Amino acid sequence: MLKDRHLIESNDFTLVEQEEIFELADQIIADQDKFLDACRGKLLATLFYEPSTRTRFSFEAAMLRLGGQIVGFSEPKSSSVSKGESTADTIRTIGCYADVAVMRHPKEGAPRLASKASTIPVINAGDGGHQHPTQTLTDLLTIRSLKKEIGNQTIGVCGDLKFGRTAHSLVKALAKYDNVHFIFISPPELTIPSYILDDLAEGTYELTKSLDDVMDRLDTLYMTRIQKERFFNEEEYLRLKGYYILTEEKLENAKDDMIIMHPLPRVDEICSNVDSDPRAVYFDQAKYGMYVRMALILKLLGLGGI
Ligand code: NCD
Repeated sequence: MLKDRHLIESNDFTLVEQEEIFELADQIIADQDKFLDACRGKLLATLFYEPSTRTRFSFEAAMLRLGGQIVGFSEPKSSSVSKGESTADTIRTIGCYADVAVMRHPKEGAPRLASKASTIPVINAGDGGHQHPTQTLTDLLTIRSLKKEIGNQTIGVCGDLKFGRTAHSLVKALAKYDNVHFIFISPPELTIPSYILDDLAEGTYELTKSLDDVMDRLDTLYMTRIQKERFFNEEEYLRLKGYYILTEEKLENAKDDMIIMHPLPRVDEICSNVDSDPRAVYFDQAKYGMYVRMALILKLLGLGGI
């Protein structure tokens, strides 16, 4: 069903299609060996115009664990991009060699433009301060696996909600599930964009700058980093950096079964003494990211029925 499609924004797939990806990820987690050769002869291209650790490594690990191979760059200076080649021309060329492409780009909308020129599926691995749909698949699979359902919860989304693309994609996707209540926790300068709020039904969200005030109501706490690279001036970043620092002490009021998520990398917004708290699941999240990307690659290549 998803063969030859692109994934540019987190709502590009229907809930049914998304659930098919999660079910395939469950199967992979249960019996990884069954998928060892699933992508034999297939090639994934990784086009990273911006730094990445988890997203690129998890995509590459995903393809290699499926028996496929990878080509790409993590530094655009090493490709013809540095000679002034357009993203459209780059993707048309990559389509001559690879079967599916993953692109991260500092410019909002670049992966969508690329997908229009592409002969192979394009996956957005983060475009500027806009969206990061495969992080959302990761986040949803994590919630579904650890909380047993995605809906029926109060989620606190905390930090840089203005520039944080993982938060934007996640909120758009979660809004499609039943009975999700959002509490957006940010400094007033970094509040969630109105184009995201406009999609939410009245009464399903609230805004605050105090994490402490709402901690005891949360089923999921989604922490994010202040996005230094998207600020226009360093002073403003330095002023807001350190606005939220989650410590074990601050978690005293939190529910016993709350989960603490973070797309990573973290800077100082979660103290390392929280890592050993059983509610901290951000490194599990990184692992779910590889499995869900394995499922996504299989689906886009039409190999999901294995
Ligand atoms: C995120 C990103 O690139 O937007 N990282 C990731 O892919 N896990 C989050 C971030 O950089 O803050």
